Amino acid sequence: MVMITFKGPDGSQTVEANIGDTILDVAKKNKIKIYGGCDGSCICGSCHIHIQGDGAKKAKAGSEISDQEADILDILDNVDDTSRLACQVRITEELDGMIVLI
Ligand code: FES
Repeated sequence: MVMITFKGPDGSQTVEANIGDTILDVAKKNKIKIYGGCDGSCICGSCHIHIQGDGAKKAKAGSEISDQEADILDILDNVDDTSRLACQVRITEELDGMIVLI
């Protein structure tokens, strides 16, 4: 179990996250508003998030960006080096304390 903080238009919320769950899973379990239109199938891009600080690098180490995720990110707005799809990042011990920007 690790702690993850979500920051968005509705404020900041720190929650417990199970190892192996995706960031989208954690958001849904805690009623945090990340849309997730394709329910994790990596085809809609509606779960686009930014990971603050060195969490982005740690997330890439634990869940590499697949070609499919990269293709989706390519067609989204406001994408940078901290961008990920919440349905494609699995929680690892190394992500304890991660800050996710919605
Ligand atoms: S939920 Fe559709 S790409 Fe993540």
